Order: sequence, then C-alpha cells, then structure tokens
Amino acid sequence: MEKSGSTAFSDSRVKLINDYLETNLSRFEKSCSQRFEPLIEAMRYSLEGGGKRLRPILTLSAAEALGLDPKSVLPAACALEYIHTYSLVHDDLPALDDDDTRRGKPSSHKRFGEAVAILAGDALLTEAFGQILLLGESGRFLPAQILGVVDLLAHHSGVRGMVGGQLLDVTIDTSDASLPEIEFIHIHKTGALILASVLIPTKLIPLEEEKIQSFRRYGEALGLAFQISDDLLDSETSVRYSRGPRKKPKPCYTQVMSPSEMKQKLNFLIDHAINSIRSLGDKSQNLVDIAEFIRTRKA
Ligand code: FPP
Ligand code: MG
Repeated sequence: MEKSGSTAFSDSRVKLINDYLETNLSRFEKSCSQRFEPLIEAMRYSLEGGGKRLRPILTLSAAEALGLDPKSVLPAACALEYIHTYSLVHDDLPALDDDDTRRGKPSSHKRFGEAVAILAGDALLTEAFGQILLLGESGRFLPAQILGVVDLLAHHSGVRGMVGGQLLDVTIDTSDASLPEIEFIHIHKTGALILASVLIPTKLIPLEEEKIQSFRRYGEALGLAFQISDDLLDSETSVRYSRGPRKKPKPCYTQVMSPSEMKQKLNFLIDHAINSIRSLGDKSQNLVDIAEFIRTRKA
C-alpha cells in the first residue's frame, strides 16, 4: 500500500513497526514460562497476519506532526496494534461473526481452537497495557503523561469506545436501523480506536487545547471515513452478513445510503479531516497522505 512520495506507509516505516512488534514479543516470550508457548504462538500468528498497521502508522504520523520523534511513541503504537488484533480475533469467534478466515488465512479459532483464540485475545488486550509502560524506558516522558495514554486507551477501547460499539453491532435489530444509529455504532466500534491512535501523542507533550481539538477533529472524521470506506469495499464484494448467532446482516451504511451517497460522505469527511490539520504545516503531510489513502483505498 505504498504511496509514491509519502513516508506514511513507506516500507521503512512499516518495517520499523513490524521489527518493534517482533522484538518486543520475543523479549516478552523470554519472560514467560515455556508452558505458555501455545498462547504466544497464537498471539504471534494474529499479530503477524498481514494487517496494514494503520493504527500504529497513525500514531507515528501524529507524533511527527507534533515534532516528536516517531520512534519514541513505538510502545504506544504497538499497544494499539495489540488491541486491534485482539478485537479481530474475538470478532471472528463463533459467538460473534463466526468467520473462518481473516486476511486470507484461517482465523485464530480455526487454527488454534476456540479456547486458545479467546485466551490469545485476552492476552493481547492485557499485554497492550504493559506495552504502554515501555514509553517510560526512553526517559523522555513523565509518568503523568504515560498515565494519560493509559487513560485514553482504556476509554477508547473499552465500554465507552470499541467494546460498547461492538455490543450494539451484535445486538441491534438491523431491520429498523437508522443513519444516526449506524453512525453511533461505527463511531464507537471502529472510530474510537482510530481516534485514540491520533490522540495518543497529544498526551505526551504539553499542548494548547486548540491544537488538541484539531487532532480530535481529524481523528473523528478519519475514524468514520474509515468505516464508510470499509462498508463500500464490502458492498463491492458481498453483503455484510453475520454467520454468528444473529444470522442476519450487520449494521452498515449500505442499509441506509446508496454507494454514491456513501462516496459523497466519505469525500466530505476526508476533506474535513485534512482541513482540520492544515495549520500544522509540512509536518502533518503524512496525516494528509493517510486521509487520502482512506479516500481511495482498495484493501
Ligand atoms: C479492519 O481494520 C477492522 C475494522 C474496520 C474494525 C472492526 C471493528 C471490530 C471488529 C471491533 C471488534 C470489537 C470487539 C470487542 C470484539 P483494518 O482494515 O485496519 O484491518 P487490518 O489490520 O487487517 O489491515
Ligand atoms: Mg467480522
């Protein structure tokens, strides 16, 4: 997904993230009893399953836009990928979407069995919070700033964010879902973690409120835009249908909007995201490039 001239998705940046994830997992593995190896294997399987690394890339790019060294936020970027990965492992389970494949490979429960997949998801979520504490290793950040990141991530990945959104996603009666209801679900289920990815660096340096709000506006618009682009991609392939206990279509924009209306909304949100961070100048070019990628992405 390389974009010419952009460093946001450059091979070297993706490698930086992948190397950090692998080094850290290996280091963590060494601190665990060998008897827990099946859990580490399942965590590694999903972490290395071929994801785009969108959320860590966003965190590195937001750090850059604030004049921070992108490398300094790698522990938090890595924590986001852990949480994103756990959410996909659990989302694929028979009790939720009951998906046999993920990224063209057997889903975690198909490969390791349901019990190990549930526990691998639990482990990824728990260890994500341990990862954040590694922000302290560089000596660049104050404990209070690191606690701010913990608070942000708990807020956006838990009941008030992704988990709450997922609850509604799996329990809503889709036959009478309205646009505001679908947006409420998407803002929480998908948008919250994307917003957190953008906001994390704002917790790590003193910043005026106006600047924080510009990152918030960018992250909120991008999170919703990402889910619309996801629904558009799905609508080009097949209907979003849950094989899980609901056995009915999942709530998505295609139920309440035509593809051309969805594209219009996507364009509006991407323009809004880009305009929100324009004032940051050249340092925010990678954030602009990520938004443009979401406008036109094919995967
Ligand atoms: C694809 O991201 C993922 C989404 C669009 C988010 C869907 C949200 C959930 C599955 C929430 C589940 C929550 C719980 C609590 C189970 P991507 O295209 O970045 O994926 P990639 O990593 O494969 O590139
Ligand atoms: Mg799913």
